[in-house]
Parts: sequence; C-alpha cells; structure tokens
Amino acid sequence: MNDTFLKACRGEKVDYTPVWLMRQAGRYLPEYQAVRGQVDFLTLCKTPELAAKVTLQPVDILGVDAAILFSDILIPIEAMGMHLEFSEKKGPVLSEPVRTKSNVEKLIVPDTEDSMSFVLDTIKILRRELKVPLIGFSGAPFTLATYMIEGGSSKNFLNTKKMMFQNSGLFNYLMKKLTKTVISYLSSQIEAGAQAVQIFDSWAGALSPVDYKEFELPYVKKIVSALKKQHPDTPVIYFANDCAGIIKEAKKSGADVIGVDWRIDMADAVKKLGKKVVVQGNLDPCVLFAPKEHIEERVKDILFKGESAKGHIFNLGHGILPETPVENAIAMVEAVHKYGKKE
Ligand code: CP3
Repeated sequence: MNDTFLKACRGEKVDYTPVWLMRQAGRYLPEYQAVRGQVDFLTLCKTPELAAKVTLQPVDILGVDAAILFSDILIPIEAMGMHLEFSEKKGPVLSEPVRTKSNVEKLIVPDTEDSMSFVLDTIKILRRELKVPLIGFSGAPFTLATYMIEGGSSKNFLNTKKMMFQNSGLFNYLMKKLTKTVISYLSSQIEAGAQAVQIFDSWAGALSPVDYKEFELPYVKKIVSALKKQHPDTPVIYFANDCAGIIKEAKKSGADVIGVDWRIDMADAVKKLGKKVVVQGNLDPCVLFAPKEHIEERVKDILFKGESAKGHIFNLGHGILPETPVENAIAMVEAVHKYGKKE
C-alpha cells in the first residue's frame, strides 16, 4: 500500500511529494470515453462496477498517489428529493429550483444506506482493488446551494444571492439541511472505507469575504468538526476555489489540508496558511497544454514554494479539462515524482 498521500495529509515526513488530479477520472481519457459511450453519466455513477472501473483508470494510466471516488457532487441533491439530469449541452439541470419555504421544507436529509448505497458499494469494491488511498468527497453547502437555487450552473449566482440578501432565514434553513446531509454522507463514505475526504467548494470565491464569513464558513466548520469528532484519524481536505480573498478564513474551517487554486501564488498561499495546515495544489490546468519543458518548470516552482508548508500534496488548481493531452498529464505526474523527492 502506497500511503505517501495519507502521510502528507497528516503533515508527516514523506519520501516524495504525492500527487493526484482533481477530476482525474473523466473525458480526457479515451478509456473513460469507452465506458461512457455505453451508458449515460448518472447510470455510470450509480453502477458500482463501472464507477469503480473508471476510478481505477487514472491511477493506472497516470501513476497518481491517490484515487478519488467516481461520482458527482450533485448525487446527494437528487437524494434530497430534487430531479437531476445531465444534458450534453447545458450540463446539470435541476428542474424546479429551490426558491421558497415550501421548496426547502420538502427537501429531506437522506440516509446514504437507503438512497445512495451505490456510492458505498463502489467504495467497498475500490478498497479491495486499490494500492493507493481512496478519497471520498462531497460538495460544500454553498456550492451545493447554488445548483439547487439556480437550477444548474450559473454565472452570477443572482438567485442564490437574492435569497441570501432578501431572505437570509430561508437561506440558512437550506444551508442547515445541506450541512446535515454532507456530514452524514461523508461519514457514511468513511465508514464504507474512504481513507480521506475532500469538500469541494467550487464557488466559494464568488462570495465577498464578508459574506463568505457569514454565509458559508460556519457551515463548513460544523462539517469539519463533526467529522473530526466521529473519525479523528481521517484527513479532511477543504478545496476553496478562487480562494485568494478568503484563504485566511478558509483556514479557520479546521480542515487538515487546504486545497488552493492557481490564481494565488503558492508562496503566498503557504505564508497565509502558516505552519498548522497542509497545502494542496495548485497548477493551472491550462499549463497541461504547454510544452513538456514548460510543465516541468511550473511543477518545480510550485514544489519549491510548497516546501515551506507543513506538508504539500501536488494537484491542479481545479479540475483537469476534457481537452487535455493524456501524455502531458503523465508528464506532470512524472515531474512531481522526480523533482519532489526528499533527501
Ligand atoms: O475524478 C474525479 O475527480 C471524480 C469524479 C468527479 C466528477 N465530478 C465527475 C464528473 C468529481 C469529484 C466531480 C465534482 C463536481 N461535479 C464538482 C466540483 C469540482 C469542480 O470541478 O468544481 C462540480 C461543480 C460538479 C458538477 C458538475 N458535474 C458539472 C457542472 C458537470 C458538467 C460539466 C462537466 O464538467 O462536464 C458535471 C459532469 C461530470 N462530473 C462529468 C464527470 C466525469 C462529465 C460527465 C460526462 O461524462 O459527460
């Protein structure tokens, strides 16, 4: 078992800097497309043998130090009672967006065993097959709320912010339900065998720092502290996208590892995070379209800057893009392993 990733999460000494890629299972891999050609995306998520198969693909092909469960952050939203579809053109579509008190009242806090047992079954298969640690995940409450309130992806999050500013009582009611859902969902994943969990806060950076502090941080803190109480040895990673303006606040989440995007320099991120948390990140996913020498240079720069943190897990600053040449992703992983060796 290669436990370098878990050691790095705990800030322990490692032989080299471990690496994995957000969205490492996906359309940039012809092997993923072959499976996806047979079934639609939601069926893929809900068929444990297939979800396990595509989880394993990047581990073998790229040689990364951790696997991430193949699923989607919107799966628990469906389990809460919303109708979810993935359209080829528009991405996720949640019909009947959540806008009123009765909409929120109707949502349930789902039991993972009852309505998402396929996630737990996928985890169980993976733990038998994997030689690297398995990361479970969930969306963060604010990020999930944006999809529920907007009914899908959004640019300005206007409906979400309208609810926040015009009816904060209702917004907080929704956030409380989401917080309970995330705690129970991640806890079940850990009990089924996930060895670390990541909370994806893809849209945290859309909030002003003041609003982040009021409307998102308290809920993320609650999730982390509940998980730490129930599973003290399982590392929690909090990825706050577009974090430059909120990084010092994001650190207060209590997570063991803070994931950062590429818009902040790694040296600056480390300085702001201090010596108590491990950092994860943060190569611009578009650098994987550059010549290999350029990729190597950027990897070296981030590795060098990550050295002064309590620990560093190399990753992209956000998900890998579908157009990415696979050989460049492999070159990145090789460069991290080569230049991230410790004496
Ligand atoms: O490899 C992994 O990282 C595990 C699988 C994973 C997926 N989605 C698979 C997926 C993970 C961790 C996610 C998280 C996710 N899903 C996030 C947070 C991370 C981020 O990138 O910010 C978000 C915001 C979503 C919601 C979502 N899922 C959107 C907006 C879309 C459509 C746009 C897109 O990227 O296609 C998805 C679909 C999705 N999720 C795909 C995959 C592989 C593509 C579906 C397909 O095969 O057509």
